[in-house]
Amino acid sequence: MRTALIAGNWKLNKDHLEAIHLIGDLGLRLSNLDLGRVEVAVHPPFTDLRTVQSLVEGDKLPISLGAQHCSHHHHGAFTGEVSAPMLAKLQTRYVLVGHSERRAMFAMDDQVVHQTAKAVITEGMVAVVCVGETEAEREQGQTLAVLERQVRSAIAGLPDNVADDLVVAYEPLWAIGTGTAATAADAQDACSAIRRVIESTLGTATAGSVRLLYGGSASSANAFELLSGPDVDGLLVGGASLEAQSFCDIIAEAIRCYR
Ligand code: 13P
Repeated sequence: MRTALIAGNWKLNKDHLEAIHLIGDLGLRLSNLDLGRVEVAVHPPFTDLRTVQSLVEGDKLPISLGAQHCSHHHHGAFTGEVSAPMLAKLQTRYVLVGHSERRAMFAMDDQVVHQTAKAVITEGMVAVVCVGETEAEREQGQTLAVLERQVRSAIAGLPDNVADDLVVAYEPLWAIGTGTAATAADAQDACSAIRRVIESTLGTATAGSVRLLYGGSASSANAFELLSGPDVDGLLVGGASLEAQSFCDIIAEAIRCYR
């Protein structure tokens, strides 16, 4: 049975002092919850990773460490980049790969997404590959075709036994930061389609174990319904993960759903 993953993507928010405060607050609130089959992860900016890792380790907090991006290059003349081995050394468990903001603003195409996913997995971390259609693509009825292209290209050539090293997050661009989430039915349909693509590439066993997340204006008001979809195994949360209270309210809904 798949466990749930509730991951907070902090994006370009929280300097390291703010991160200390947020993790402290989160740790306190999580200590009052019985997480059961729900895993919690945070994806702070690079400059916070060391601090968050120390706090999580020192206080034994039930929080997995995630990064928001990394280079597909190992080392070399790539000013401003951070490599997968560097993140692995910090006990990073999850790395977002190909978030739509990276694709749109930092020229990350399907090929680089694929190479980055491979680099992350090679270092023993979990690649959280982000996929999703734009509003125009959705209006033209291209949602499933876009998802198929993005997923197929990202996982091409990965070994079949990659189930524990791969998560795919469905994040429709029109739902990100807009306050309008996909309906639970749309999220389920998209995740089911993604699972079929994984099945046709990596086989039934892997497809059955890989966790699929939904992201885009997720909140405590819609979390339970979104998570009720049989193919939706978690949430990638942006805005609502920036406050411990609103993030924990979502986690509480996940616990209720996965009881
Ligand atoms: P919001 O939850 O703010 O819509 O952001 C979603 C997202 O992009 C998470 O990666």
